[in-house]
Amino acid sequence: MPPFISFEGLDGCGKTTQVRLLADYLTQRDIQVAVLREPGSTPAGEWIRELLLGSLNKELDPLSKLLLFYTDRNQNLHKKIIPALSEGKWVLCDRFADASAAYQGYGLGLDLALVETLDRMVIHGRKPDVTVLIDIEPSLARSRASDRNRRSEARNRQSPQLSLPFLGDNDDRFEAEFLRFEAESLDFFRRVREGYLQIAAREPNRVRVLNGSQTIEQLHKEVLGLISPFLPGNRCDGVE
Ligand SMILES: Nc1ncnc2c1ncn2[C@@H]1O[C@H](COP(=O)(O)OP(=O)(O)O)[C@@H](O)[C@H]1O
Ligand SMILES: [Mg+2]
Repeated sequence: MPPFISFEGLDGCGKTTQVRLLADYLTQRDIQVAVLREPGSTPAGEWIRELLLGSLNKELDPLSKLLLFYTDRNQNLHKKIIPALSEGKWVLCDRFADASAAYQGYGLGLDLALVETLDRMVIHGRKPDVTVLIDIEPSLARSRASDRNRRSEARNRQSPQLSLPFLGDNDDRFEAEFLRFEAESLDFFRRVREGYLQIAAREPNRVRVLNGSQTIEQLHKEVLGLISPFLPGNRCDGVE
């Protein structure tokens, strides 16, 4: 079975950048890859994404959001992740279940036992083989995210069709809304970061922490180091 790899970390830490670089690297080596993201990836998931990260976000209470994230995850798992793995594709997922624990649990203060119950119901222990956690100072993540959002808004003004839903790269508009409504202060991001690090401390074999203040190229090299045991000729069933 090919590996299921998730990428986690604060908005702006560099997940999408690293997912794309790894997908390119694998594709160039004729390895089939499914690139997925949460929320999103399925048609229903993209609607949920719009709900969760768009302007309706402020009408949703934390439990409603958590349930929507798990609805999306259930769709993603059954319609995309499991089928892709059984077709022999590597799965690269831009966020997965750890994001719910970190954001809704540690960040927004929902009971972590509730998140664990939903995990048992929905993911049934199908955790990623490797989770790349890009750890970064919240202030650096925020400045990277807002630079990216400014550039993306400028691009969208030049070609407005880019901001339509379902055309793929509408991440940045959503992230901008998310930053606005979800977290006015860096304290929220500090709690989320701390939550991610606690998850990594509990599951060090699965969750690998990379220093997100490195350059894009340095991080890419470290990601390749983490996934190398799964490359053809170097097969293994898990990372120890
Ligand atoms: N290691 C890095 N160093 C400097 N800038 C980076 C790095 N990784 C990503 N970026 C830039 O920071 C912004 C946010 O990166 P992105 O991959 O969109 O983060 P995320 O998907 O985690 O929100 C983008 O403009 C990206 O080009
Ligand atoms: Mg992203």
